[in-house]
Amino acid sequence: MNVVQAPKFCFVVHPLSLEDVARYEPGAKGKGEAIVKKILEWMPAYAAVHVTGVRTPDGRETEGWFVGSPLLPQQILDLPREDIYKRIVRSIEIGAELGAQIAGLGAFTGVVGDGGITVAERSPIPVTTGNSLTIAAGLQSFFRGAREMEVDLASATVAVIGATGSIGSACARLIAPKVREVILVARNETRLKAYYEKTAPDLPCIVSYTTDIASAVRRSQLVLTATSSTQDIIEPEDLQPGAVVCELSLPHDVSRRVAVERPDVLVTEGGNMVVPGEPRFERVREPGSEFDLNLPPRTALACMSETMVLALENRLENYTLGRGIELERVVEIEAMAQRCGFTLADMRAFDTAITPEKIAATREAAARRRALAAH
Ligand SMILES: NC(=O)c1ccc[n+]([C@@H]2O[C@H](COP(=O)([O-])OP(=O)(O)OC[C@H]3O[C@@H](n4cnc5c(N)ncnc54)[C@H](OP(=O)(O)O)[C@@H]3O)[C@@H](O)[C@H]2O)c1
Repeated sequence: MNVVQAPKFCFVVHPLSLEDVARYEPGAKGKGEAIVKKILEWMPAYAAVHVTGVRTPDGRETEGWFVGSPLLPQQILDLPREDIYKRIVRSIEIGAELGAQIAGLGAFTGVVGDGGITVAERSPIPVTTGNSLTIAAGLQSFFRGAREMEVDLASATVAVIGATGSIGSACARLIAPKVREVILVARNETRLKAYYEKTAPDLPCIVSYTTDIASAVRRSQLVLTATSSTQDIIEPEDLQPGAVVCELSLPHDVSRRVAVERPDVLVTEGGNMVVPGEPRFERVREPGSEFDLNLPPRTALACMSETMVLALENRLENYTLGRGIELERVVEIEAMAQRCGFTLADMRAFDTAITPEKIAATREAAARRRALAAH
């Protein structure tokens, strides 16, 4: 097969936790949080990972770079906005100097401020947050989880946490036609109420809103979470027996206690995709050594995948930006990703694969818990 070189891409990454910092830089292990944060603040952006071998079934190939903008999520929210924008734009410039023609914004670099709009205005190359494919892949994961746990959608209540956000607001609109009730959840009540008043009349199901996460979770069989919280916000005590939680937030929202204390609940990380071809994620500083994405082999986040798909499809344009995502884009990028050979990754959560045996055990635990609750 003839291989055709597609344009190159770059993707801005940052650590989600101190564990991430230590995984990339073992010297940071055991150091106090304050000193690690100070060092990160001083660190300039740098090309961290060279990605090669991303190839479509019809022979289009791209390569690219993950460029580190090494700050923790809370630092990205707390440091002066202008400083953060400059760091993100500098990361993109590094990618462009290496030959990238489109840039993606990872995790909080796509969340900060206006969700990529200002960054795109200042960037030398087109920019995307990757949120359209995250929504498409996230919803596939969400409905797969519901199917596996045999939740009847037509009678289900769904809590969408982060409902005023870029990802959450689109997910709420796309889930609504399939379920009985959607509860919109966020922190800022004024924005939430405005979103509810604008959206609810067009949604073909019962819609309500609340800022009380625990009460929304307690009422729901299905939960989708896409927040910019830096703390756990979903606790085991609040989840219904046999509930399904699809987690799109990075860092995650679901307390690790759920993994231990609620064997009857299915938590699944939405938005992971298998990359076509023979993708390699090689550390730039140590050629030959693989970068640990903390995901199974050949797997990338959906936002990274969107950036790769746009490069492979030669769609060198600002694609997904800001908070009002066009649902047509979600449909379009899903079709483009499929054409390029990207597929939804197997289910996983809490760094572990969710096997068919694990799902069967979760269903059994849910049945036992429901029976207990009925007595
Ligand atoms: N898996 C992937 O491939 C992937 C790709 C892209 C992004 N992401 C992740 O997805 C998440 C959402 O991204 P986004 O672009 O949609 O962000 P966004 O537009 O900033 O929206 C964030 C939403 O979360 C809400 N929120 C923030 N803190 C909260 C809290 N403590 N409790 C309840 N709600 C809270 C916000 O509302 P209020 O301000 O009113 O609270 C808002 O509705 C982020 O964690 C991001 O890193 C994942």
